[in-house]
Amino acid sequence: MTPRTFCVLTLFPELIGTFAGIGLARKAVSQSQLIIEARQLRNYTSDARRTVDDVPYGGGPGMVMQVAPLRAAIREARARLPQAHVIHLSPQGRRLEQHHLPALLEFPHLVFVAGRYEGIDERLVERDIDAEWSIGDYVLSGGELPALVLMDALIRLIPGVMGDPDSARCDSFMDGLLDFPHYTRPELIDGQAVPPVLLSGNHAEIARWRLREAVRRTMTRRPDLMVTALDRPEIARVAAEIGRENPEKSADEA
Ligand SMILES: C[S@@+](CC[C@H](N)C(=O)[O-])C[C@H]1O[C@@H](n2cnc3c(N)ncnc32)[C@H](O)[C@@H]1O
Repeated sequence: MTPRTFCVLTLFPELIGTFAGIGLARKAVSQSQLIIEARQLRNYTSDARRTVDDVPYGGGPGMVMQVAPLRAAIREARARLPQAHVIHLSPQGRRLEQHHLPALLEFPHLVFVAGRYEGIDERLVERDIDAEWSIGDYVLSGGELPALVLMDALIRLIPGVMGDPDSARCDSFMDGLLDFPHYTRPELIDGQAVPPVLLSGNHAEIARWRLREAVRRTMTRRPDLMVTALDRPEIARVAAEIGRENPEKSADEA
């Protein structure tokens, strides 16, 4: 089977190389599940100075990334990677959330366009880009970090990449809730004990406690997520129970 490819079109390919050499990205690559590559946009220029930007029409501050080098890089990537989906990372894109990721993994290959300066010429967005994604309502100086954020979130979901698939399944947002609290050894540190239920060996009780704490956290920290989560009867039931408790009660007393 041909491995999927994540191809980043960028002025700073070295950032992508570092990411590809560590952690789960490295594992996915070494399992031959994924090829991570970066293309230097200056290699698609035709002038001696390898120019990729120019002043904005209409005046104003900053520079804009020109159409020609990016268009050539995108076309080359599309020719090499059949059915590639071309993503422009942009603060004006759709805000990325966990539930968007599985659909992106359906594409055999993804091409990430990392903007710089004031961004890319709008004509590229109209003709050459398939989707625009934002990683949040703030502005970074380039699209490389957003591309890495998106790639990292996707890699965690490629089957076989995470040692224990359950660990991704329990993560925040996977089931519409925040994750439950985690503890490791020692049992007691500086007077703080691990919640006793976690030491009980009773897996059903532990699962109940974890669901309860996940719901409690989500209610407190991200009530916006509860709107959808409450559609699930088991969550509505736990939320109602928590609502009847003293809201000040701490997690380890539950
Ligand atoms: C300085 S930003 C340009 C911002 C643009 N003038 C605007 O206000 O929408 C340069 C590049 O960083 C990337 N970028 C910055 N913030 C981002 C975000 N929140 N999500 C995704 N990409 C972002 C985009 O690729 C963008 O073209």
